Amino acid sequence: MASTRTQIGIVGAGPAGLLLSHLLAREGIESILVEDRSRTYVEERIRAGVLEQGTVDILNQTGLGERMNRESLIHDGIEIRFNGTGHRIDFPSLTGGKRIAVYGQHEVVKDLIAARLADGGVIHFEVSDVSVNDFTDTAPKIRYRKAGEGNEIACDFIAGCDGFHGICRPSIPEGILTAYDREYPFAWLGILAESTPAAEELIYTHTDRGFALLSMRSPTLSRLYLQCNPEDDIARWPDDRIWEELQRRTATADGAFRVPEGPILQKGITPMRSFVVEPMQHGRLYLAGDAAHIVPPTGAKGMNLAVADVRTLTTALVAFYKNGDVTRLGEYSARCLRRVWKAQRFSWWMTTMLHLNRADSPFDRRRQIAELDYVTSSETAMRSLAENYVGLPFDDPVAVN
Ligand code: FAD
Ligand code: DHB
Repeated sequence: MASTRTQIGIVGAGPAGLLLSHLLAREGIESILVEDRSRTYVEERIRAGVLEQGTVDILNQTGLGERMNRESLIHDGIEIRFNGTGHRIDFPSLTGGKRIAVYGQHEVVKDLIAARLADGGVIHFEVSDVSVNDFTDTAPKIRYRKAGEGNEIACDFIAGCDGFHGICRPSIPEGILTAYDREYPFAWLGILAESTPAAEELIYTHTDRGFALLSMRSPTLSRLYLQCNPEDDIARWPDDRIWEELQRRTATADGAFRVPEGPILQKGITPMRSFVVEPMQHGRLYLAGDAAHIVPPTGAKGMNLAVADVRTLTTALVAFYKNGDVTRLGEYSARCLRRVWKAQRFSWWMTTMLHLNRADSPFDRRRQIAELDYVTSSETAMRSLAENYVGLPFDDPVAVN
């Protein structure tokens, strides 16, 4: 078995693993990434699209902003539409000047891979049989196969950045982790369409047919979502049905609004779930991003939380390597979870406020409309939504140089 050594072994080349490797390299800390998919696959996987102000800031501060600043769309607000009327929530005026950027997760991933490779970073794509070993003693190892050959990476610490279905979380012995889980009786049918975005900003709509979201990726590419049943089969959603349902769920009372239609390039159904494990670490294995928690997508928090985790982990690893200080490593999980739970709360709240729950009583339906009315008419309520949407402030400065 071929063996190499590094300081941090990272499993998974999604936003969490790649950004961690990038931030560590800037601090002079070495890492090696292993990823079971191909480079093309991870660079083309369409997922999240909204970057919080803090995510934009960290990408800019660490030399990753060049293409993002050119191609991302900066948004100053969102629209919430119900009863056929739209209500705008203005972010800068409610948050002291903060905004969000619409820039596809796969574009962030492309920029990160390019930066790592340009800096001499090591990413092993298309590996198999990945395992994490000996992380409860001082010499952890990642083992994997590449082109049939067995390999081992000896390291000081392992970062489990391998997403919800990865192997790191299940490698932690039974009895250590507590999982907090909630499933929802809805899913999202998402499409990518070659069509002009319906508006300059995102529109979240609630109707008695269900939720819809109009987002975008560029001035010619729309990203559109419909609430559907988790058991729904995508084969039952031909293009015509998708467009018709989008038109119905976004119609305004004056009948003037139309979603521009165009060829559908991709479509898929994603179930919705809230999930957290505590703690997010065991021995020398640290979980980050979706490996430790997932949120329903309504608040656009998933990728932003992954970024927040790895900035916390970077600060802790820098304190260890520069000063021999293990305090921050010990606090990693607790520091992350404070933010994770607030993002869980926000994502759960946005989800339940905007989706149609067919099991709801008439009382609950009226309460839901009252909540939408309140959040779009009270400045205090709007400020809370805006503060969470653009991203809660960080309570510690990040290690960036
Ligand atoms: P991931 O991006 O999942 O990266 C994990 C990486 O680990 C992957 O590249 C995977 O291939 C790799 N990996 C897995 N197992 C192994 C293994 N055994 N060995 C090696 N590598 C492994 N969030 C939003 O905010 N808005 C959205 O619209 C949205 N849409 C989504 C749609 C889908 C289908 C999914 C799954 C998620 C979506 N999310 C969305 C959530 C968001 O994309 C995630 O929160 C984000 O990708 C988390 O980044 P990560 O790096 O932690 O995990
Ligand atoms: C997108 C996804 C989200 O979950 C969201 O809340 C807003 C936008 C998107 O993919 O563009």
